[in-house]
Amino acid sequence: MSKTIIVSNRLPVKISREDGSYELKMSEGGLATGLGSVYKQGNNLWIGWCGMDVPKEDESIIKDRLSKENLAPVFLSEEEIHLYYEGFSNETLWPIFHYMSTYAQYEQSYWDSYQSVNQKFKERVLAFAEPNDVIWIHDYQLLLLPGLVRQELPDATIGFFQHIPFPSYELFRLIPWRKNLLDGMLGSDLIGFHTFDDVRHFTSAAERLLPVQTTANVIHTDDRNITVDAFPMGIDADKFNSLPSSPEVLEIIKNYDDALGCKKIVLSIDRLDYSKGITQRLQAFEKVLLDHPKYIEQICLHMIVVPSRDTIPQYAELRDQIDKLVGNINARFRTASWHPIHYFYRSFPIEQLSALYSKSEICLVTPMRDGMNLVSKEYIASRTNNDGVLILSEMAGASKELTDALIVNPNNLGELSDAIVEALEMPASEQTSRMESLKQTVTKFDIKHWVKIFMDQLKEVKETEQSRR
Ligand code: UDP
Ligand code: G6P
Repeated sequence: MSKTIIVSNRLPVKISREDGSYELKMSEGGLATGLGSVYKQGNNLWIGWCGMDVPKEDESIIKDRLSKENLAPVFLSEEEIHLYYEGFSNETLWPIFHYMSTYAQYEQSYWDSYQSVNQKFKERVLAFAEPNDVIWIHDYQLLLLPGLVRQELPDATIGFFQHIPFPSYELFRLIPWRKNLLDGMLGSDLIGFHTFDDVRHFTSAAERLLPVQTTANVIHTDDRNITVDAFPMGIDADKFNSLPSSPEVLEIIKNYDDALGCKKIVLSIDRLDYSKGITQRLQAFEKVLLDHPKYIEQICLHMIVVPSRDTIPQYAELRDQIDKLVGNINARFRTASWHPIHYFYRSFPIEQLSALYSKSEICLVTPMRDGMNLVSKEYIASRTNNDGVLILSEMAGASKELTDALIVNPNNLGELSDAIVEALEMPASEQTSRMESLKQTVTKFDIKHWVKIFMDQLKEVKETEQSRR
């Protein structure tokens, strides 16, 4: 019986050490939920890093625990976490792929480690892969892996999906090891991105840098054809739609009713990341209060920032900037009974997020760049009354689908603050007509649909390729 092997840098579980024993918690993110239906079936499997530096003597305990959940850990040393994960993945690729080239570091030691960790992942894949298995590799931390697996298993079926943008050639060419990265990706049979712009940028980079030909969305190398296509990722819309009526979420909503203390709530949820436009968002909110004092004591910004990669200097700096801005704005505008920004630097479980999505009249999603952005879709799916307004950056992949949101350029502070005012004043009928149309999109193109169309196309391109030989 053939199986599907999912490979990503991070496993869909969080592991932590409490009182000497290890705790496993399923993570709530979109990928974990969406692919849950895939990896938990039969002898399917998910290979990835378990998110912490596990002492050698405990590795077998973790392996045994995880194997019961169809999960296989890759263990990374402290040095690998520093050079491969924080280094090449998040200080080289992440800034370039999010158009922040001045943040990028081009360190030979980062690149060396990126290569050796991708090899390490390859060894894990080879330990499990059998003929006819489908191998589905995810994201920018593993760009070399499709090529490495292809060298060992020439007939394998390999799909690759990148969850972050693929930048224009002018950005991508800055990376000294650009050809190796493309060669690695072209080990796949099918390469997926969230948007057609990403597909176009990737194909153009491959044409310019490698001896390949392209026709439409197929890249031809000497001996293989690789299909490149857009598959906008969806969410578990049914789950977000039903959560607000669950007893647990109703209870949280009731508590919020008593505690929040403002007439309209503007919601903001992101990981700590300079790609998310958090400081610009704070400035736009401040401008609303400055230009329209009538909103003082009426509105508040409920802002969740989930700690992320804070050992990297730019992330630590961003955290300081946010602390400072929030402090200044609250100090400037607060009254005896009200303060404008409720800021939380921690992560929340899905029930708490669901309650906030339900309670907030406006959701403000204004990244400078984002591959997709699932928060915007989760907000829509949670609006069971079809009211509320989504303000969405045109730089998020989601803006290509969610065209009935208020679409803004996140660099334009005036436009951003005008959009907040427009959302605050939007008539109920307009909210409903926009939200109904947004909801149709989010419900129809959900996570199950995403998994299905990717897997179906992978099967199809493999069959075509095999019949050509
Ligand atoms: N999320 C969460 N807890 C939090 C905040 C966010 O589980 O406290 C989840 C959120 O529900 C969403 C994901 O984190 O599914 C963030 O995905 P998104 O695509 O918006 O951004 P990313 O972090 O992948 O760049
Ligand atoms: C984005 C990336 C993922 C990554 C996630 C969290 O969604 O596309 O690959 O896992 O951010 O980042 P982290 O560095 O904590 O894994």
